[in-house]
Amino acid sequence: MLIFLIGFMGAGKSSQAKKLAARLNFESIDLDELIEKTNKQSTSEIFKISGEQHFRKIESETLRALSEKQNAVIATGGGTPCFFDNMQWMNEKGITVYLKIHPGTVYHRIAPSKSKRPLISHMNDADLMEYIMETMIERAPFYNQAKIQMSGLNLKTEDLVSALKPFLKD
Ligand code: S3P
Repeated sequence: MLIFLIGFMGAGKSSQAKKLAARLNFESIDLDELIEKTNKQSTSEIFKISGEQHFRKIESETLRALSEKQNAVIATGGGTPCFFDNMQWMNEKGITVYLKIHPGTVYHRIAPSKSKRPLISHMNDADLMEYIMETMIERAPFYNQAKIQMSGLNLKTEDLVSALKPFLKD
């Protein structure tokens, strides 16, 4: 069983994946970390040296390489569902969970770590807020294809487990 956590930067995908995996006794996989390990470069370096298009290609390949995993919770990157047919692929392979988050909360969560986030590292505060609002609207049609949608704010692992129960039965 594969569980994919999707949603915008700052939605809490990585921390929720660790907690959920521990609770279910599943493996926890962070897609960005896996990309960094496999390519021996940080995501920022990949964006800077090879460009976003290249990043999206290896992101999609790294995602697909997980198809043989047994029981795993996978924290995807914020853009993962929105490129190639990644969202369809994830829905075919497992359970997708969209962690929804308000743009203002995203802003407060990601502004302090801006320098480590290649898409926003160069932005001033006003540009960042505009980017979050616009990109969320663009990405919504992809995120909304998730099988489960939950608020990512103050999310308890037990609430995630309850929402997953109907899917985990078989
Ligand atoms: C991205 C989000 C990042 C990372 C990359 C691109 C995006 O992941 O994959 O910087 O397009 O929103 P997180 O959502 O884990 O920060």
